[in-house]
Amino acid sequence: MPKYLAGKYSHSQIAEVLIDAPAIEARVADLGAAISRDYAGTIPLLVGVLRGCIVLMADLLRQITIPVNLDFIAISSYGPTTRSSGVVRIQKDLETSIEGRHVLLIEDIVDTGLTLGYTLRMLRSRKPASLAVGTLLDKPARRLVDIDLKYRCFEIPDKFVVGYGLDFDQLYRNLPFICVLRPELYS
Ligand code: PRP
Repeated sequence: MPKYLAGKYSHSQIAEVLIDAPAIEARVADLGAAISRDYAGTIPLLVGVLRGCIVLMADLLRQITIPVNLDFIAISSYGPTTRSSGVVRIQKDLETSIEGRHVLLIEDIVDTGLTLGYTLRMLRSRKPASLAVGTLLDKPARRLVDIDLKYRCFEIPDKFVVGYGLDFDQLYRNLPFICVLRPELYS
């Protein structure tokens, strides 16, 4: 185990907190209200893109006041580095048929858009009644694929961020805020 991981996460590992927990909570509440309003009269299927979505999904579900269904899909786009490999594959498919359903994909972050572009094309071929995307974070500076985001909580600059579900090398997902790590941790 690396020395910096022995014991608790420490502020010495964090260069900058970009979005604190109360700010996330407020925007997730807004997102839940918007979904409840926009999908009223339907039972939308929320599809979480694993694994980064899980913290957002858990909080968002409890802010939605209409009936919803829940499913997950796992798509891999990144290796153990901070750069997108451009290689996208399905690791876990949906268990729900989406034909005729109102589907809302829930992402933690849209970066290059490669993951989402691929996922949307695949899901569209299954003939949902509607297909839209909601994301916690949008990093437009790195976009390679044009993606229509129906909902987004925050636009962020081109910095590698962790916390609130987002990882570096499968760590830091459990931080309750979005932050930038000290550069020496990446090497
Ligand atoms: C992250 C994130 C998105 C994707 C965004 O997932 O959750 O799915 O990368 O990047 P892109 O817009 O450049 O495609 P990752 O593959 O890191 O897996 P994780 O959710 O398990 O952390």
